[in-house]
Amino acid sequence: MADRTGPFEGDDPFALARAWLREAEATEPNDPNAIALATVDASGLPNARMVLLKEIEDAAFVFYTNYESRKAEEIESAGRAAFVMHWKTLRRQVRVRGPVVRVEGPQADAYFASRSLRSRLGAWASRQSRPLESRAALLAEVARVTARFGASPPRPPFWGGYRLEPVEIEFWADGPFRLHDRFRWSRPDPRSEWEVRRLNP
Ligand SMILES: Cc1cc2nc3c(=O)[nH]c(=O)nc-3n(C[C@H](O)[C@H](O)[C@H](O)COP(=O)(O)O)c2cc1C
Repeated sequence: MADRTGPFEGDDPFALARAWLREAEATEPNDPNAIALATVDASGLPNARMVLLKEIEDAAFVFYTNYESRKAEEIESAGRAAFVMHWKTLRRQVRVRGPVVRVEGPQADAYFASRSLRSRLGAWASRQSRPLESRAALLAEVARVTARFGASPPRPPFWGGYRLEPVEIEFWADGPFRLHDRFRWSRPDPRSEWEVRRLNP
């Protein structure tokens, strides 16, 4: 599209998302890779929470969490999710929607192993999203898993990644007088070609 210049240029939306995230890494004070992840429960009630985007692959976005959490339950029952990244320093957002599959096996093992020991033990100790009696009970669980696994906890079977393969990616950049620029990349399914449209702000 002739009109797609400046920060919107390029024919690969994943490369574009990576480039925007790289810019944000230089300007954001904290967590430039934080995404607001939206899911929907069985009754259709939406839900949102922040998670960290850990990888932008050739054709997918990857984040990690507890497979017994509420978000996991909602992702698995709907099979799809959406997220938005917003960088206040750049005044830009990227919106992504699509089907989601698990990232397990060696890729998840490698990412888990790259985390700090405390984070790895914390993943074992936390029954994410379920009620907790007290902070003391959580710390007792951390002590228990530390005694069990020592310095090399394996990836818990209930913890791993999710890969979102988008059918829609929208790049948004702030413009003067609310005349923002928006470009939506869309395709009917993750195997099809992208169509790119400029949208009204
Ligand atoms: C900046 C930020 C980053 C976070 N990153 C993650 C993450 O990568 N994975 C995760 O499971 N929770 C992460 N959390 C915690 C989630 O927001 C949430 O509290 C937790 O995953 C439970 O959500 P759920 O009950 O909807 O499953 C993060 C929170 C914040 C504020």
